[in-house]
Amino acid sequence: MKDSIINIDSDLIGIIEAINSAPAGIAFLINSDGKFHSVFTDGDLRRMLLKEKKLSIKLSTEYHNKSSVVAKEGEDILALMNKINKKVQIIPIVDSKHMLVDYFEYKHKTHFTPISEPDLNGKELEYLVDAFSSTWISSRGAYIDRFEKDFSTYCSTNYGVSTSNGTVAIHLALKALGVGEGDEVIVPDLTFAATINAVLHANATPVIVDVKEDDWTIDCNEIKKALTDKTKAIIPVHIYGQPCDMDQIMTLAKEHNLYVIEDCAEAHGAEFKGGKVGSFGDISTFSFFANKIITTGEGGMCVTNNEKLNQKMRMLRDHGMNPKRKYWHDELGYNYRMTNLQAAIGCAQLERITEIHELNSTTENSYRKTINNKELIKWQINLENKNKVTWLICGLVPQNRDKIIERLRKKGIDSRPFFYSLGDMPLYKPYLFSNKVSKKISERGLNLPVKIQDSIEDKLNIIKKTLSENIH
Ligand SMILES: Cc1ncc(COP(=O)(O)O)c(C=O)c1O
Repeated sequence: MKDSIINIDSDLIGIIEAINSAPAGIAFLINSDGKFHSVFTDGDLRRMLLKEKKLSIKLSTEYHNKSSVVAKEGEDILALMNKINKKVQIIPIVDSKHMLVDYFEYKHKTHFTPISEPDLNGKELEYLVDAFSSTWISSRGAYIDRFEKDFSTYCSTNYGVSTSNGTVAIHLALKALGVGEGDEVIVPDLTFAATINAVLHANATPVIVDVKEDDWTIDCNEIKKALTDKTKAIIPVHIYGQPCDMDQIMTLAKEHNLYVIEDCAEAHGAEFKGGKVGSFGDISTFSFFANKIITTGEGGMCVTNNEKLNQKMRMLRDHGMNPKRKYWHDELGYNYRMTNLQAAIGCAQLERITEIHELNSTTENSYRKTINNKELIKWQINLENKNKVTWLICGLVPQNRDKIIERLRKKGIDSRPFFYSLGDMPLYKPYLFSNKVSKKISERGLNLPVKIQDSIEDKLNIIKKTLSENIH
C-alpha cells in the first residue's frame, strides 16, 4: 500500500507511477501534514487527460476540492459493505487523526456475465423506500396509480391496468374480451410459452402459426390460412424487440371481426410506422420481469384505449368484485394485482427508459461493428418501417448453436438458445398449424448478453473468437 500513497502536491506523472505500482489500481492522496485527502482512480486520471491537462500539472491546483468516502478504523464489515456501491469499490480506512491506515476492497465473487441484468441506477431504491415508509406495501398506493398512468401514456394509450406478471396480463386480456371455450386464438410459433399458456388457461384453443424468415415475427399469410369461423383473436408477439406488421394484422382483424392482443413483453417502446407497440390492439400486454427492458421484479401491465375494457380488467383483476359494492362479486375473478412496492420501482425505471434503450442499442451497435461477418452470425434485422428496440442481443449462427453456448459459458459469458418452436413440443403439438420457418430460426437462434458495458471490448473479443472457432 505504501507505494500507492502520494502527496497531493505531486504532478500527474507521480500519480501514474503510484497507480501503476498500487495493488488496488488506485492512488491515495495525502496532504503535506500526512493526513488522508482523497482517492485518485485511473478514471480520474483519464478524465483529467481528456480535459487536456498537462502531465506536469500539480494535483493540488486541480484536486483540492475532491473528497472521498472513508471508514473509521474499527468499523465492522457491515458498515464497510454499506459504503460500497457500483462507483465506490475501495474504502480508505483512517484513524482518529485522519491518517490512512488501511483500505477495504470489495470484489465481486463471480465474473460471470449474465444474459441480462436489471439497470437499477436511478431512483428505484429511493421510491421503493418511500413506498415502504408509506406503509402502502400491498396493491394500493400512489405509485400504482402513477405507474399505470405514466406507462399507458408512454405507450400512447388511455388506460393502464397493472398486474402481478406478464403472463396473467395476457390471461386477463383474454378474459376481459370474453375469449374462452370454443374460441380459437392465433399465436406465433416463436414465442415464450407464456403466450400460449395464457390461451390454454382461458380454455380457448390456440392455433400456432409460422413466423417470417426476415424479422421472425408472425406471418400474416399464415394467419390468413389458419382463420376459421371459430377464430376469435390474434396475439401478435413483438418478439425480441421487433414489432409485428401491425397494419396487416389490424386490417385482417377488422375484416374478420377479431380481437387483437399485442404481446409486448419484450418490446417496451418499439415502434411500427411511428406508432408505439401496444397502441394498436384492443388490449396490449407487457412484462416487467427482471430481465425485461424495464422491470418491477415481477410485474405486468395491460394497456387499452377502451374505457369499458379498462373497467372490466380492473374488476377481474380484483376477484371480480363490484367496484361500487365492496365484497359483492358479479363475476369469477382473480387476484392479479401488482404491489405499490413493485410500482415504485417501475416509476423509477420508466423515468430512465430512454437512457436504458440508448445504452442497450449502443451495445448492440458495438456487437454489430466488432462482429461484422455474416458467416459467424447473422444479426437480427433492422427494418425501415419498424423501430425495433434492443432487448437481448439476437442473431442466427450457421451451426453448433448449443456448443457455442457451452463454450461461452466456460469463458464466463452467459448466452441462451432462442425459444423452442412451440409446435415441436409434445405439449403444444396438437395446436400446430405451421412452423416450417420458425423451426429453422429456433434451432439457430442465439441470445447474447446485453449488459456488457464493463470491459465491453474484452467480452466482444471473446464472443467473436468463440464464433470464429465455430466455423473453422
Ligand atoms: C413473449 C412473452 N410473453 C409473455 C411473457 C410473460 O411475462 P412474465 O414472465 O412477466 O409472466 C414473457 C416473459 O417472460 C415473454 O417473453
